[in-house]
Amino acid sequence: MNQNAAYVIVGASLAGAKAAEELRAAGFDGPVTLIGNETERPYERPPLSKSYLLGTAERESIYVHSPGWYGEHEVDLRLGTTVTGLDPSAHDITLADGSRVGYAKLLLTTGASPRRLQVPGADLPGVLYLRRVADSEQLKSTFQATSRVAVIGAGWIGLETTAAARAAGVEVTLLEAADLPLLRVLGPEVAQVFAELHREHGVDSRYGVQVAEITASNGRASGVLLADGTHVAADAVIVGVGITPNAQLAEAAGLEVRNGIVVDSQLRSSDPDVFAAGDVANAFHPLLGTHVRVEHWANALNQPQTAARAMLGQDVAYDRVPYFYTDQYDLGMEYSGYVEPGGYDQVVFRGDAEQREFVAFWLRGGRVLAGMNVNVWDVNDAVQDLVRAGQPADVGKLADPAVPFEEVVTT
Ligand SMILES: Cc1cc2nc3c(=O)[nH]c(=O)nc-3n(C[C@H](O)[C@H](O)[C@H](O)COP(=O)(O)OP(=O)(O)OC[C@H]3O[C@@H](n4cnc5c(N)ncnc54)[C@H](O)[C@@H]3O)c2cc1C
Ligand SMILES: NC(=O)c1ccc[n+]([C@@H]2O[C@H](COP(=O)([O-])OP(=O)(O)OC[C@H]3O[C@@H](n4cnc5c(N)ncnc54)[C@H](O)[C@@H]3O)[C@@H](O)[C@H]2O)c1
Repeated sequence: MNQNAAYVIVGASLAGAKAAEELRAAGFDGPVTLIGNETERPYERPPLSKSYLLGTAERESIYVHSPGWYGEHEVDLRLGTTVTGLDPSAHDITLADGSRVGYAKLLLTTGASPRRLQVPGADLPGVLYLRRVADSEQLKSTFQATSRVAVIGAGWIGLETTAAARAAGVEVTLLEAADLPLLRVLGPEVAQVFAELHREHGVDSRYGVQVAEITASNGRASGVLLADGTHVAADAVIVGVGITPNAQLAEAAGLEVRNGIVVDSQLRSSDPDVFAAGDVANAFHPLLGTHVRVEHWANALNQPQTAARAMLGQDVAYDRVPYFYTDQYDLGMEYSGYVEPGGYDQVVFRGDAEQREFVAFWLRGGRVLAGMNVNVWDVNDAVQDLVRAGQPADVGKLADPAVPFEEVVTT
């Protein structure tokens, strides 16, 4: 290892901060620079739509490290700094002020940005997105000041902010283009559980609708006009219609970019000295046998360990089972595995779906591709073992909560 070689990380959020931590944990004592265009030191985003938005978590609890950690570990943290260019042949990056920073190895953890709504009125004041801590604070004050909001998109952002709005006593009209919430990820069988959950909590959910325009009154958003002519009045409009990976630097530099920065199982890009991790990385996953870009916290937490070790020349590969979780009202769940939209042929419930206390499994050809435990705890490791096993499961045993998970695989 060349201890004097500069290691540079672009993107100072969860993935970037964890990579800096791992470089030091692995014994690297050369220069480490962590550059980010936000003004806050690296923080985690999940609380922004849950505990921090609900007011049950303190601001200090969201940060990845204490303020002193970066100095103590000789990590040169440069906040409020945008990287505008990457030159792989010169081994340097360009900052917005025109200065250049050289690197021996570079890690891109530039994450993703909310997709903007493309309809008239989408830029009006009162149209709100949620990605950064300031967005969460703006939502929180909106919930205190208004009585009704429209939420566009019943994905993770839409559903979690809807639950927070209802907890604050705000009326919500939820507008989703698909026929159910989370349909692409969960399929109709399990998506139905989330539709029912929000219906029970008084949400006016409208599925299969098309947003035509954000209407205005006194220069502010006043509601949403749907393509069928219906007008939904609202004091504010929250938009969660997906994200786009921030792969522009890599793309302009000529690296392979396809649904994010394409990397191998070591998280190395098409340039041998440039790596990528977190939301921006479309990584080859040895267990799944395909490239996947995972837009979830656990991936941003764990991939950087592999990336940092690979940057240091170690023989590592990232093959963790994809994992994510949500909390909405009194529903808590964990999901492990990966299913392409429509990529399963059977869903098996273990437990009581109506009482929202169950584990659901998605299977193809008898093999468990993914499992989701809802208000059932301490089963996540067992679910991941089933996914990892890749062996046919006995469906009768899988569905029976009395049968231990170890007895479910048939071979
Ligand atoms: C509100 C919210 C709630 C969530 N809740 C959950 C949850 O409950 N469970 C779950 O599994 N996942 C959740 N997620 C997803 C999870 O937070 C993301 O997967 C994770 O934040 C990805 O981390 P990252 O470090 O890869 O990217 P990001 O968090 O997007 O960070 C990338 C950073 O790079 C910076 N950057 C980008 N380009 C440049 C540049 N050119 N120069 C300098 N800096 C740059 C960005 O400003 C940003 O600070 C949630 C996301 C949001 C927004
Ligand atoms: N618990 C979690 O894991 C969690 C929580 C919050 C955010 N996140 C992450 O944050 C990112 C952003 O979340 P998100 O909810 O914006 O994206 P998403 O991809 O989860 O959901 C977007 C939803 O918007 C719908 N949609 C798209 N265009 C629409 C339109 N014009 N009108 C109406 N509906 C439309 C889609 O059908 C989909 O249901 C994702 O990466 C997500 O994984 C994760």
